[in-house]
Amino acid sequence: MKIEPFSLERYFAKHEFSARYLLSCSDCEALTLAELLEMADEEAAALWQNLKLAYTESSGHPLLREAISGIYDGIRPDDTLVVVPEEGIFLLMNALLSPGDRIVCTYPAYQSLYEIARSLGCEVTTWEPNEENGWHFDPEQLGRLLKKPTKLVVVNFPHNPTGFVPTKDEYLEMVRLVEKSGAYLLSDEMYRLLELEPNTTLPAGCEVYERAMSLFGLSKSFGLPGLRLGWVASHDAEVLEQMASLKDYTTICGSAPSEILALIAVRNRKKIVAAQISRARRNLKHLEQFIGNHEDYFSLNWPRGGSICLARLLAAQDSMSFCEDLVEQAGIMLVPSRMFHFGDSHVRFGFGRESFPTVLDHFAEYLSRI
Ligand SMILES: Cc1ncc(COP(=O)(O)O)c(C=O)c1O
Repeated sequence: MKIEPFSLERYFAKHEFSARYLLSCSDCEALTLAELLEMADEEAAALWQNLKLAYTESSGHPLLREAISGIYDGIRPDDTLVVVPEEGIFLLMNALLSPGDRIVCTYPAYQSLYEIARSLGCEVTTWEPNEENGWHFDPEQLGRLLKKPTKLVVVNFPHNPTGFVPTKDEYLEMVRLVEKSGAYLLSDEMYRLLELEPNTTLPAGCEVYERAMSLFGLSKSFGLPGLRLGWVASHDAEVLEQMASLKDYTTICGSAPSEILALIAVRNRKKIVAAQISRARRNLKHLEQFIGNHEDYFSLNWPRGGSICLARLLAAQDSMSFCEDLVEQAGIMLVPSRMFHFGDSHVRFGFGRESFPTVLDHFAEYLSRI
């Protein structure tokens, strides 16, 4: 398989564990093992205590799949497949796509959402938002893009990297258009439940369209990326089965400790996610103040969900060399938009971590020096 390097992940590989300060992480503050275990009910605590480090069921632990199905309306445990989130994208595209197929994908995007399709010989059409209109993804434009035969539409809301979330009506309109075109839908919902305004959580794709596959996991909204655990939920049994069959060539089955820890997390999702949302909201107040104090440097469309947003860098320099200087001189890692193959005019802020206000202070200090 020939595939382009994943620019964003390579950038993280270079800086994440060497830079002193991180200002662009997309995950929320990670829980400790002790914090998570404290939330275990009697059943889960016993499963953890007596856990044998054996192979696990390929589709996922039955209790975990049951807990996952409880997040959705009308989804049964059998409608879920436990995967590593990134693996889920890989399996789905390999299960569904053939050379010559066309996909339409929200863009800028987490690279695997289109790159895997491209590596399989598919034609990739991008659907871009309007920055002047708050990074709005216009359903009418999707309608126009779907005039040509399309095998798969890929959407990602809350959107990485802009933090855009459509209204429920707009999302349902998008799904209706996909359904009308006959395409499958991959709805990457990795930042779901982390909507910043009350009552703006969208229905999951799998709840509103038979041929939709919803990707979710514990890395972002739950702050548990180290578990490497997510899932795909769908009413399309055939696609899930094909994915399960390909999984024998990737991970075979999930990690036994991660599955039990994930069970505890999913059963306690309200408490865990509420704490992450309140931290994100707190951090956004600091970001608001920071942007207000640096209007000559940045303009920002306010995010509506997730833990990231994309600011335009107004300073004369391109964002790539700006970020390179920043990490070299101040030890602060900020992701430039080139890592999303989206020009050199933007930077991504990640506001899910506890250290965010402190790192912003260091950033402000750096800006006052240059
Ligand atoms: C939109 C999106 N989808 C999928 C993933 C992959 O998630 P994971 O790192 O948990 O495999 C990410 C990670 O950043 C993401 O931002």
